[in-house]
Amino acid sequence: MDTIIPLTRHFEFSETISILEISYILASVLFVLGLKKLSHPDTARSGNLWAAAGMGLAILCTILFHKSLVGKGNYEGIHNIPFILVALFIGTFVGWFAAKKVKMTAMPQMVSLFNGMGGACAALISMMEFPKMQTALSILPAHNMLNGEALAILLGLMIGGVSFAGSMIAFGKLDERIGDFKSPVLRYINLSFLFLLLGFVVFIMFRQPVAGETWMIYTLAFLALVYGVTFVLPIGGADMPVVISLLNSFTGVAAAMGGFLYHNQAMLTGGILVGSSGTILTILMCKAMNRSLLNVIIGAFGGSAAAGTQLGDLTVKEITLSDAAILLSYSQKVFIVPGYGLAVAQAQHLCHELDVLLSSKGVIVKYGIHPVAGRMPGHMNVLLAEADVPYEKLMEMEDANNEMGNTDVVIVVGANDVVNPAAEDDPSSPIAGMPVIQAWNAKNVIVMKRSMAKGYAAIENKLFYHPKTRMLFGDAKSTMQKLITEIKSL
Ligand code: TAP
Repeated sequence: MDTIIPLTRHFEFSETISILEISYILASVLFVLGLKKLSHPDTARSGNLWAAAGMGLAILCTILFHKSLVGKGNYEGIHNIPFILVALFIGTFVGWFAAKKVKMTAMPQMVSLFNGMGGACAALISMMEFPKMQTALSILPAHNMLNGEALAILLGLMIGGVSFAGSMIAFGKLDERIGDFKSPVLRYINLSFLFLLLGFVVFIMFRQPVAGETWMIYTLAFLALVYGVTFVLPIGGADMPVVISLLNSFTGVAAAMGGFLYHNQAMLTGGILVGSSGTILTILMCKAMNRSLLNVIIGAFGGSAAAGTQLGDLTVKEITLSDAAILLSYSQKVFIVPGYGLAVAQAQHLCHELDVLLSSKGVIVKYGIHPVAGRMPGHMNVLLAEADVPYEKLMEMEDANNEMGNTDVVIVVGANDVVNPAAEDDPSSPIAGMPVIQAWNAKNVIVMKRSMAKGYAAIENKLFYHPKTRMLFGDAKSTMQKLITEIKSL
């Protein structure tokens, strides 16, 4: 090609523009409708399919109709279609297989891994586009890279790289392969890296581009990856869901940069939707824990044997299965408070069976759902929906707390931190200020767990020693099964 390469060479479309653009708009509409449907358990499954159909449509139409301007009036279709199809096939197979195989308890890790892939894609797009822009601009005399598209490329690389590396570290932490590195020094290193990254982006933009010069883009990619690692490393394990949702929003923004660069509405809308929903979720989770985002990022919470509640010589009381069966059967109102242990034991179906059994005896049964119970947002809702528990029975934490006073029994099933009174009465506790389900306000509390082991925040729980509390030790699934049998035999 002997013509001067116009700056917009890779961003133009041929006469098929209308079909392609209409398909992108349709894909965007499907994303929005899919997201809307995801907000209710009854429609969530179809919402997922709608959004996936939107993505499928955008990919298919891009392969079929995208054309690039390669010279005066010359358009070319997409190259390397066999490679694209093989990559699509491998990606689809790996994604499908991983989603089928993953255990409910390992879902956050998978989300983190998939999110990291999105960040990596955004970063790779930038790494591909940067040299083209550099070459195009290098032939113009006294010209720097101070323009919107260069900014989109550089931010896409920076944010996508941080998101990729951060998500990999988050994956390692959730999978318990990587521990916490809490050092005040890391805060300063992080801040320095952040300023270095931003400064480097500004430096690149003001510099006269030189064709074929690669060190700048590789250095930026390296700095982004290192920052992603050092950003997530010191954050406590229990804060990982907040971090993942924050990284999710980063990936969305990075993808939106690609959409801006290619004038691709589907990519732009998808990126903005992911970016904004990730940000909203981050804010909601911070609110649920009564902590600021800054506190999550630089504060220390969970994961370590932190100081906190002193138990002195408190002792726990146990309850027998027959006593528990009688207490529950003659109650008027029972609250089930599920936690991470419910997911581990996979006791959700038996929970529902207990609910149906007690309800048939005239007991009012409800579920108290803490927003961060389990290991991912909505973890308990998903498990209980899977067991066909009617959505109306699930009470949000504030509503559940309002009803605790006139509740006869609270059954805590594999929950720990989310019912820990230290959040309210021990200012030195790492979870101080986090709203919790006030099970101790009910008349009786039965706690189902296997031992006196601590929960995710690695702190003692005085609820287990409370005068109203009795422990029912054992795996939640088998204990629940025995309890059901006992109630049936009454
Ligand atoms: P945790 O505080 O983690 O406590 C779970 C309890 O379940 C443990 O104490 C454990 O005690 C018990 N358990 C485990 N396996 C069991 C089984 N098979 N049968 C019966 N009990 C079992 O859980 P939580 O109360 O749900 O609180 C969640 C915590 O995780 C919070 O600190 C939250 O911030 C954090 N977190 C939340 C998320 C999100 S977004 N949901 C994500 C990551 C972390 P035993 O070992 O004695 O049985």
